[in-house]
Amino acid sequence: MNLISHARKILAQNWKDGFTIPTSKLYPFQWHWDSGFVALGLAHHDLDRAMTEINSMFSGQWENGMLPHILFHSENEKTYFPNYNFWNSAVNPGAPEFPKSSGITQPPVFGFVLESLLDLYGAENEEVVNFVKNIFPKLLKYHEFLYTYRDAEEEGLFFIFHPWESGRDNSPLWDKPLGGIDLDNATLPDYTRRDTSLADASERPTQDQYDRYVYLLELGKKHRYDGPGIARESPFLVQDCMMNAILIRSNEALLNIASKLHLDAGKLPEWQSKSKANFSSKFWNEDLKFFVTYDQRNQQPILYREIGGIIPLFAGVATKVQAKYIADYLQNLHDRGFYLCPSFDVDSPLFDSKRYWRGPIWPQMNWMIYHGLKKYGYSELAEIVRTDLITLVEKLGFYEYFEAEKSKVTKLTKGYGGNNFSWTASSIIDFLNS
Ligand code: GLC
Repeated sequence: MNLISHARKILAQNWKDGFTIPTSKLYPFQWHWDSGFVALGLAHHDLDRAMTEINSMFSGQWENGMLPHILFHSENEKTYFPNYNFWNSAVNPGAPEFPKSSGITQPPVFGFVLESLLDLYGAENEEVVNFVKNIFPKLLKYHEFLYTYRDAEEEGLFFIFHPWESGRDNSPLWDKPLGGIDLDNATLPDYTRRDTSLADASERPTQDQYDRYVYLLELGKKHRYDGPGIARESPFLVQDCMMNAILIRSNEALLNIASKLHLDAGKLPEWQSKSKANFSSKFWNEDLKFFVTYDQRNQQPILYREIGGIIPLFAGVATKVQAKYIADYLQNLHDRGFYLCPSFDVDSPLFDSKRYWRGPIWPQMNWMIYHGLKKYGYSELAEIVRTDLITLVEKLGFYEYFEAEKSKVTKLTKGYGGNNFSWTASSIIDFLNS
């Protein structure tokens, strides 16, 4: 079977009557940014399913505009912790009764996903235009949520209060902010993890990290997941460089859609100017020559070269000089025998080539980085980013994430984490169509 057919088959297998799971067992529900990337891939061969996928996601939107990180469409699925009972989204009266959901969000990818549907099918396609017009106000409401509930200092740069919101769950970025949680004096509810019995424990977060995740979940619940109380009380309060870059890219997409389809973008132009004006001064670090994430609680940058710091290229918010530093960083990794793009600085003692977000390569990140590099004219490097992912999938299969060191890959027969993974399939479909 060729790679595209294989990828389509995976998306078909992961389709659960209205939405796509990331992978069976480990992630048996609908995840926010996974779903966006899935729709990007589906759009190439099954428009109906792509639109249904997006509609399913928005069926879980809260009244305050929040688009949750997980929708639990089925209450019979028992293999996931924390499940809908544990999140108890009913503490917020604006959370839909069905589908039940988590109480946090994830990277706001749907703006550029919607734009890509319109680009693919054209503004003459009535079905797509009607669909886009229907989702547009909902998406605007979601962005409004980020600007009103998550921007305590009104900087146009929103905060997260849980590492899972970032999509890069156990990145070393979060070690210090999570360290601010006083576990000794905290009472945590009893819980049993499911992930370590479904995937290799050495590729998953540690128990101590998990306790901290549960602590923050409980804190969110206490504040109905939306209150200003979270900003006041959470020991973990971070302005993530990648998520804000993605928001800017999605804002831009919504503005393009609005002008093409003559839609009212409300306050979006205002939000977008503020975000863009403050982005570089908050996130660019002149010593590291890299974009870095900001620990708002402790008022300091988190000084690591981490994959999220490459995404500003995708948003077009880097200057040419900044983009050049980042392109040089990637070129150097390539020259040293790494596949692109490792999720963490390979020279840091915290780099771990196997464990989740502490080193390995992630397909959907390559997709954004590819487009970012192209935007700044680094076509050859972009091509390396694209073909590296294709090569890894050909060699090791459609896994969740991959080893970055070429010398290690030659000895491996598979990738890491879950197999038959949806965003891997989608990224491959889109890459092979570009
Ligand atoms: C992991 C990833 C997260 C993803 C989820 C489902 O939690 O860190 O980014 O959305 O799995 O694939």
